[in-house]
Amino acid sequence: MRVYTSKAELSAFISKESTTTFSLGFVPTMGALHSGHLSLVKAALAENTLVVVSIFVNPTQFDNPNDLNTYPRTLIEDVQLLETLSKTMILVYAPTVEDVYGSQMNAEKFDFGGLEFQMEGKFRTGHFDGVGTIVKRLFEIVKPNNAYFGEKDFQQLQIIKKMVGLTKLSVNIIGCPIERESNGLAMSSRNSRLSDEEKEIAALIYKTLQSVKEKFEFENHTDISTWVTTQFFNHHLFELEYFQISDTENLAPIQQKNETKTYRAFIAVFAGDVRLIDNIALN
Ligand code: PAF
Repeated sequence: MRVYTSKAELSAFISKESTTTFSLGFVPTMGALHSGHLSLVKAALAENTLVVVSIFVNPTQFDNPNDLNTYPRTLIEDVQLLETLSKTMILVYAPTVEDVYGSQMNAEKFDFGGLEFQMEGKFRTGHFDGVGTIVKRLFEIVKPNNAYFGEKDFQQLQIIKKMVGLTKLSVNIIGCPIERESNGLAMSSRNSRLSDEEKEIAALIYKTLQSVKEKFEFENHTDISTWVTTQFFNHHLFELEYFQISDTENLAPIQQKNETKTYRAFIAVFAGDVRLIDNIALN
């Protein structure tokens, strides 16, 4: 498998390969790949001639230095895992910070129309400016036709769609369903930092979201939020950071249920210092 650390070499190879019928798929990742990432790569392989997977732990999207330092970095294993899907149709771009940012590692400031102030934005200052900055740079380097993102980070997905609209970059953004462990825990690179007990008990997160979906048909959203809080109150392993039912389009918290709108429930939970997020479509 071809692994590039330099954007110049990556671009040179892609231009050599491209023909009039060529379509380039792109899956941006921070590595520590798992079946969730592989499902994005499979979707990209099914719809494109060539697929670039970037593996880059982006410093500008971390508000917590400890989270950045402890983020798993497993390039060799990641490449081996990708090779199980294809050795010839996938290129890996695993750049250095300098290759992406040059000498100025700064996040751009974006106006995402309020999407950035909801949920994750409230708890992770500057996170979405960092995500917008890196995804825009990667799009400029890779120049994909189609880019694939998981719905686990649904707020990120909406923000990237907004960024593409703002910057008028020519790329289709494709959202892919959440992949889950057999107990329902949403797949995440951070799961590797959970103990066996935490992993098992983390089934509570998705079970709670499934019950929220059932309750949403006939219960008031305030009562549902109170019920979710009680599920995690004084829990011996987990601490609830937030739970919110939002309008799918603008991610604003629900005020009054409107039958013409679609809603999603979002949750963030700490297991020790590992932060887990998940969400579910409600209607
Ligand atoms: O979802 C992620 O892994 C990251 O936020 C992304 C999109 C690769 C940008 O660094």
